[in-house]
Amino acid sequence: PETGCLSIIVLGASGDLAKKKTFPALFNLYRQGFLQSNEVHIFGYARTKISDDDLRSRIRGYLSRGKENEGEVLEFLQLIKYVSGSYDSGEGFTLLDKAISEHEFSKNSTEGSSRRLFYFALPPSVYPSVCRMIKSYCMNKSDLGGWTRIVVEKPFGKDLASSEQLSSQIGELFDEPQIYRIDHYLGKELVQNLLVLRFANRFFLPLWNRDNIDNIQIVFREDFGTEGRGGYFDEYGIIRDIIQNHLLQVLCLVAMEKPVSQKPEHIRDEKVKVLQSMLPIKDEEVVLGQYEGYKDDPTVPNNSNTPTFATMVLRIHNERWEGVPFIMKAGKALNSRKAEIRVQFKDVPGDIFRCQKQGRNEFVIRLQPSEAMYMKLTVKKPGLEMSTVQSELDLSYGQRYQGVVIPEAYERLILDTIRGDQQHFVRRDELKAAWEIFTPLLHRIDNGEVKPIPYKPGSRGPAEADELLQNAGYVQTHGYIWIPPTL
Ligand code: BG6
Repeated sequence: PETGCLSIIVLGASGDLAKKKTFPALFNLYRQGFLQSNEVHIFGYARTKISDDDLRSRIRGYLSRGKENEGEVLEFLQLIKYVSGSYDSGEGFTLLDKAISEHEFSKNSTEGSSRRLFYFALPPSVYPSVCRMIKSYCMNKSDLGGWTRIVVEKPFGKDLASSEQLSSQIGELFDEPQIYRIDHYLGKELVQNLLVLRFANRFFLPLWNRDNIDNIQIVFREDFGTEGRGGYFDEYGIIRDIIQNHLLQVLCLVAMEKPVSQKPEHIRDEKVKVLQSMLPIKDEEVVLGQYEGYKDDPTVPNNSNTPTFATMVLRIHNERWEGVPFIMKAGKALNSRKAEIRVQFKDVPGDIFRCQKQGRNEFVIRLQPSEAMYMKLTVKKPGLEMSTVQSELDLSYGQRYQGVVIPEAYERLILDTIRGDQQHFVRRDELKAAWEIFTPLLHRIDNGEVKPIPYKPGSRGPAEADELLQNAGYVQTHGYIWIPPTL
């Protein structure tokens, strides 16, 4: 691993994302010894004129609960300095560069290293100007070696054209290996496990195809609405907020062919191929919903056509997946909170237990909460009678890996950006292909040609979505629920 001076610059340091995600993730990395205090310095940058201590006290409450690690919190906060300035004038960025350089020279005057990580906790509208400022005033000092990297987060545009425009504005200033596009679902433990599961297990290799699998669902449900972010959300809607990025990334890992190796580019190459093999989405395979009360938010226009729920069928036109529906489902203000992948296998041909059987084989990967994977299978019901029952092989992480702390997605991803590993980040061609899939549908929604169906908050969403699921071939198991094991 590289050593020497590392500067992490959080742009938009006083905003919500920085406070809630970026700084806590940095703190956790620090606590675990991944950020050495003799090498690392953290800079906050934003427009507000506040002091170092003001910033520290704003962040502090998000770093720890209770008193147990107060010492570590204080040490960590001492690593943070604050610089204020605008996002489009040279003045602020000159000051920022000066602050970074002082630290690089004082700590490493002999061996020297200038590693600079810019984390954009900013609205994308300022990405192009901030990139220009960094490029003009804040690049790493080449005589010291090191690198400059930028970390950016969605929304990357609103459709294909706006996203491509943003990509080329950034691309004129930074090379692809310097750009880390975060999709935090790629930092989740069970999403990262997909590669291992699929390609390191003989169980799955021969079964993972259209001959055996009937349908695949990728589901995201939240049991709360858009509270407090209605204004942002209304511009985007559930497809841009969840499906086009988080769920589609998961789909790529579920559907891709075996990469040539574990190298990031080999993996990303395979993901792009999945996206490029997607057929256009059919209107009759889309159900949109909007929960009742969504428009009561004063920041949401009264005539909003924005979906807060969507179920749709995606189809991959290749040898492995032709005819297998990938059902994407995401919704806010539903009756539960969870994210999972559900792979449903076909019926057993010539099944002699057909009349007794309760359900199909399913392999379920529960991303959250309570990480788990379980295989639903039919077994003999224990007892004197020869009857069958649905049961499961269950790997529940809480039980199997007791005492193991599963890292937060942001923690893991920020560590990757420091190490220079782009595997769990979205490549430019991947982003483009993702927008190509959804842009026609999104435009029809934006123009009011496709309308969301109202649903009650706290429900399953519109009943039409369950019909679509059934029509796509999903067979619900009756009389079975998975009960996670208790410790
Ligand atoms: C964000 C979306 O990207 O992901 C939010 O903008 C959503 O709307 C969140 O709530 C969900 O993330 P997680 O990790 O809680 O599933």
